[in-house]
Amino acid sequence: MNKKTVLTILNKKQSKEKITMLTCYDYVTAKLISSQDIDVLLVGDSLGNVKLGYENTLPVTIDDMIYHTKSVKRGNDGALLVTDMPFMSYEINIEDAIKNAARIIKEGGAQAVKVEGGIEIIDKIKAISDAKIPVIGHLGLTPQAINKFGSFKVQGRTKEAHNKLISDAQALEKVGIFAVVLEAVPEQLAKEVTERLKIPTIGIGAGRYCDGQVLVVDDMLGMFTDFTPKFVKKYANLGETIKTAVKNYIDEVKEGKFPQKENIYK
Ligand code: KIV
Repeated sequence: MNKKTVLTILNKKQSKEKITMLTCYDYVTAKLISSQDIDVLLVGDSLGNVKLGYENTLPVTIDDMIYHTKSVKRGNDGALLVTDMPFMSYEINIEDAIKNAARIIKEGGAQAVKVEGGIEIIDKIKAISDAKIPVIGHLGLTPQAINKFGSFKVQGRTKEAHNKLISDAQALEKVGIFAVVLEAVPEQLAKEVTERLKIPTIGIGAGRYCDGQVLVVDDMLGMFTDFTPKFVKKYANLGETIKTAVKNYIDEVKEGKFPQKENIYK
């Protein structure tokens, strides 16, 4: 598959081609997804929920992110590989932010990092980008701020929040991010941001007018069912497929129907 780069993503905005992104956390899934010519694989810190079973993304560590990035990297065929910087790996100071972003690139093999937040952390985002590490921003519902938000709800609904999101997006663009994820924001707000920025917007629960879309792969495949936001479309029901397969296996082992001749060494 053609190897995608940051330029591929930037050019898609110019040519008005939609950008496709899915989260991915392991080798097998990376092989399957990248075989379909997806643009971006995101090793999201949502792995805290869907792979590690935490209540939220806050306990995820930089070592967790590097471990999963390495696995995805080995299976990836051509997609741009982006990894989330986990909670408190970039907020404390500029030195930590650069060091941790560099670990994700050098040890994990990602080509870019994603960071949640706006003007409050602009100095860290600028420093990472100045250190030659491409950055994707993440605005709107930023799951690492769950304890401030109180719950996972749509953001940017008041005039003040609407204006702040636009100025955050413009400030991030100015310091060099190459794309921004907009999560759980009204469609009209996402449209306005998309029209004002030269860099692409990638929406998750942000409506139809973003330059691209992203979903959590375990949500869209019907694997993760602890909670399903309104914006998720299930393209498969692998959870049920797995349960049925396992049930059939158990029944066949108990009934002596497995293994059969073709599964046995002479
Ligand atoms: O962690 C994640 O999976 C994400 C996506 C929802 C964009 O940040």
